[in-house]
Amino acid sequence: MVETTSTNWIGLALVVGPGGIGSAVAAQLKKCCPHLKVLTAGRHGPPESSLQLDLENDSDLDRLGMSLRAESLPLRLVFNCSGRLHGPELQPEKRLQQVERYQLEQQFGINAMAPILLAKAIEPLLQRDQPFHFASLSARVGSIGDNRTGGWYGYRAAKAAQNQLLRCLSIEWARRWPMATVSLLHPGTTDTALSRPFQNFVAPDKLFSPERAAQQLVEVLLQQTPEQSGAFLAWDGQSIDW
Ligand SMILES: NC(=O)c1ccc[n+]([C@@H]2O[C@H](COP(=O)([O-])OP(=O)(O)OC[C@H]3O[C@@H](n4cnc5c(N)ncnc54)[C@H](OP(=O)(O)O)[C@@H]3O)[C@@H](O)[C@H]2O)c1
Repeated sequence: MVETTSTNWIGLALVVGPGGIGSAVAAQLKKCCPHLKVLTAGRHGPPESSLQLDLENDSDLDRLGMSLRAESLPLRLVFNCSGRLHGPELQPEKRLQQVERYQLEQQFGINAMAPILLAKAIEPLLQRDQPFHFASLSARVGSIGDNRTGGWYGYRAAKAAQNQLLRCLSIEWARRWPMATVSLLHPGTTDTALSRPFQNFVAPDKLFSPERAAQQLVEVLLQQTPEQSGAFLAWDGQSIDW
């Protein structure tokens, strides 16, 4: 088989964070890249189809490489779909007096540090002579240039930090792994547990189903080439201001 496009790639794909969008991305990759074996990795999920991975736990990240190596297939694509906006003790801040250290740490732990530590964990599996995609979900609200409404201090700042960390990665990998493409993707507002408490002001036609978001994201991702590595793109392929 000649690998003319990414849809013909042969090997292993890993989707990390199989939540609303991540599960749909894994399903979409299975559909459009039939020669890739698609694995998921996260804190939950049946062990037979999902690798155990808490991205905020270094031992789990250390073990990830071993689990992937055991598959005996070249790693061709890693798509980080994990993230956090709210939780039992975490609400996006509306004003300065709501900014708390422990909440900033929660936001940065998963939205900024996890993607770059994931890249570090999988780097030993890369091969110089094989194209490879590393994608991670960011968010338009992480754009500093596009920030006109303020609020959501921790989430916005953590996504902006992720953008910078993965931009650095794209520059280093362009030298060391020239066939790798790093992409930061904004899915658009999508109907998942993450966005559910904040959907009141979203017009129904602006709220994507996870399946639609996944289809759009995978389409944009697979069009990217190493020359475009380090881009911050929306679901429609448009570039987003840093
Ligand atoms: N939905 C939207 O409208 C929207 C808009 C812009 C950007 N995004 C971004 O898109 C990404 C996916 O969001 P989603 O809407 O699909 O949210 P979601 O359904 O809540 O999925 C988030 C996933 O991240 C996983 N995760 C969180 N912490 C983790 C950890 N420490 N280790 C491993 N996995 C962890 C969650 O797993 P657990 O079940 O273990 O917590 C879950 O599988 C996020 O980065 C989000 O910021 C979403």
